[in-house]
Amino acid sequence: ERYTVMIPAAGSGQRMGAGMNKLFLKLDGKPILIHTLEVFENDASCSNIILSIKESERTVIESMLNRFSISKVVALVEGGNERQQSVAACLRAYEGNGVVLVHDAARPFIEHEVIGKLVEVASVHGAAVAGVPVKDTIKIVEDGMVAETVERSKLWSIQTPQAFRYAILKEASDKAEAEGFLGTDESMIVERLGYSVRIVEGTYENVKMTTKEDIVFGEALLRQGR
Ligand code: CTP
Ligand code: MG
Repeated sequence: ERYTVMIPAAGSGQRMGAGMNKLFLKLDGKPILIHTLEVFENDASCSNIILSIKESERTVIESMLNRFSISKVVALVEGGNERQQSVAACLRAYEGNGVVLVHDAARPFIEHEVIGKLVEVASVHGAAVAGVPVKDTIKIVEDGMVAETVERSKLWSIQTPQAFRYAILKEASDKAEAEGFLGTDESMIVERLGYSVRIVEGTYENVKMTTKEDIVFGEALLRQGR
């Protein structure tokens, strides 16, 4: 099954503290954004890419796409102040009715095998997200005191890609927007409509480049030939 991927890239990378959009930081000499785009450029089932960006970064991103021969980007749309708005902007640019993936530009280490499973499960069941079991013990803390320890075996860290049949994600996005609901991922806006969302087990390598340590980890992965 062919799919379209929507990639929000309109953030500012505050937590990275690089003084610029973290997606322009290089891993092994190549911008993070390009690493991520290359995965989909080289994924045979990916038919096209819709990228949301900051208008002020359009020129630099366009020239990067050229320089690295990224050919599947069919639309560069203007993102919003919140990630959810940046994804909504991608959805408005989509024409079709198949499976769509949403994937953070800041996760360059996503694997083809996980993408394939997500597309397959979303195609059959409607919604699927990548995740991994949490490694740490997680506690709910209130006023500096432990309120509760959550049973770890039930806890999963949820990543992107998140895959949906287009009609489901579009309905969820429109409703969230109309009701002023802000979710932290696409799954959350889909769950609230009562749809069930399946988990596809991903990999611990698929970290989001968020703070400086993540860059160190990313460089190490690349040195190992990832
Ligand atoms: N993103 C976006 N539009 C926003 C905010 C985020 O398109 N208004 C994108 C980012 O570019 C990134 C992905 O969503 O690819 C995940 O967001 P995050 O890791 O939080 O990136 P930033 O928002 O840029 O970083 P920070 O939260 O530290 O400022
Ligand atoms: Mg952010």
